Amino acid sequence: MEKIFVYPGSFDPVTNGHLDIIDRATAICDKLIVAVLVNSSKNPVFSLEERVQLLRTVLKGRNNIEIEMFEGLLVDFVRLKKSNVIVKGLRVVSDFEFELQMASLNKSLDKDIETIFMMTSVKHSFLSSSAVRELARNKGKIDELVPSCIVDEIYSKFESRLK
Ligand code: PNS
Repeated sequence: MEKIFVYPGSFDPVTNGHLDIIDRATAICDKLIVAVLVNSSKNPVFSLEERVQLLRTVLKGRNNIEIEMFEGLLVDFVRLKKSNVIVKGLRVVSDFEFELQMASLNKSLDKDIETIFMMTSVKHSFLSSSAVRELARNKGKIDELVPSCIVDEIYSKFESRLK
């Protein structure tokens, strides 16, 4: 049976930390579905189309990865995609409490779906999409935080927002 994993998130925008998890998850499954949340309560800076486009740019050339959008419950999407594994990255201890709650909730919604966690590489442990947004908004350096192919696009988003 094909091993399909789902890696969900807002990806507002995708960072090197996400990419690290994507590459490592891809290595242990047959297909990884990167699932972009449509209606994030976090009120994303990048539109859904922009978040997906940035992921497409970054993941170009990588095999066995699909980028999809989802709304509603994650477990419903996972089932729809004939998967039973959710992949999450854990950076620091403070992530744990929230992720444990999410994993337990998802387990209570569907006992057949497992959440597996990958520890984010230490060099990315301080990295978050919100940090990238904050730096880019203030013209700080982001070139070590996101893939080089999307650096300009991220800056220009904030420039256009200031106009
Ligand atoms: O990158 P994020 O914003 O931390 O990702 C959060 C995400 C998309 C994983 C989470 O918000 C989610 O799973 N949303 C879908 C709704 C859902 O199923 N919630 C959990 C059970 S209430």
